[in-house]
Amino acid sequence: MSKVLVLPGDNIGPEIITEAVRVLETVNQKFGLGIELDYAHLGGAALDAVGEPCPQETLDKARASDAILLGAVGGPQWDDVERHLRPEKGLLTIRSELELFGNLRPAIMYPQLAHASSLKPEFVSGLDILIVRELVGGIYFGEPRGIRTLDNGEREGYNTYKYNESEIRRIGRMAFEAAMVRGKRLCSVDKSNVLEATILWREIITSMAADYPEVELSHMYVDNAAMQLVKEPKQFDVVVTGNMFGDILSDTAAMLTGSIGMLPSASLDKDGGGMYEPCHGSAPDIAGQGVANPLATILSVAMMLRYSLDAVAAADAIEKAVSDVLDQGLRTGDIYTDGMTRVGTVEMGDAVVAAL
Ligand code: IPM
Ligand code: MG
Repeated sequence: MSKVLVLPGDNIGPEIITEAVRVLETVNQKFGLGIELDYAHLGGAALDAVGEPCPQETLDKARASDAILLGAVGGPQWDDVERHLRPEKGLLTIRSELELFGNLRPAIMYPQLAHASSLKPEFVSGLDILIVRELVGGIYFGEPRGIRTLDNGEREGYNTYKYNESEIRRIGRMAFEAAMVRGKRLCSVDKSNVLEATILWREIITSMAADYPEVELSHMYVDNAAMQLVKEPKQFDVVVTGNMFGDILSDTAAMLTGSIGMLPSASLDKDGGGMYEPCHGSAPDIAGQGVANPLATILSVAMMLRYSLDAVAAADAIEKAVSDVLDQGLRTGDIYTDGMTRVGTVEMGDAVVAAL
């Protein structure tokens, strides 16, 4: 028996999670996985319920689970709350408390969606990139940080970008291992022409290459990487980078595939336990309308079954079902192109369940 903790979160979070849970329950029965679900609050929902964005109860339940499935957090409803209570802070806290340092963000082009990409089909057809983003360090967590008032009365915001050797090594190892079971090419992205933290990053990643002689390692500055991603994305296999660069580059990579609404992610600890969530946010602008694309969350369920629950056949079945509904021409608004059938969140969930 395995335990999965579900954190619906805010805005479209509960809508997409409802569909993803139906899909999970379907494979649970079909494949006899014996998965048990529990629920907790995170983000704005937690703030409203108990006054903090990442309550102790949520952390306790998360630690007692084999995997976590998250919708999305945040929204303008909480724009005015103090910084340490913001919904995003809840997400960062759970990532950090559970030491989910390795964030895998695959950007895969479904052939059916080649025309939904903003790039010409020949640049993106067959695209299959894995971004490995460091998730619990770097400038997101570095201390000191804050907003202070200088002697001249002017205010100053400041953050600290730092990585120590062991932090770089553990994410490097995850990326090299990922490259080994894929195309054996790894591109490490940094800004080592300017930032010391990434000079060390490049040095450590380079020193690790000897342990993975089959992997072809390259390095790229982040500005160039952003350009190359939209110029010639198929040159990449696995990309490894720090927290902030990974945040930005994964949104870019997502768009190449037609919509960020298609991108799942896994955030893993050193033992393969993890939290699974779509790469997109809580989309307050479309919340409550039943139009959000649930496929990134449904594909996150597949990643969860594959990486944390050892249920590869069920994961394969979900990915196949998603491909089938795309073959049927079903599209939510974000991936809609002429001639297709426009559907809402629930209809898309229905179709995936039916395909299973
Ligand atoms: C992401 C999101 C988060 C991040 C936000 C919501 C804190 O953009 O998962 O990419 O920056 O990590
Ligand atoms: Mg992001």
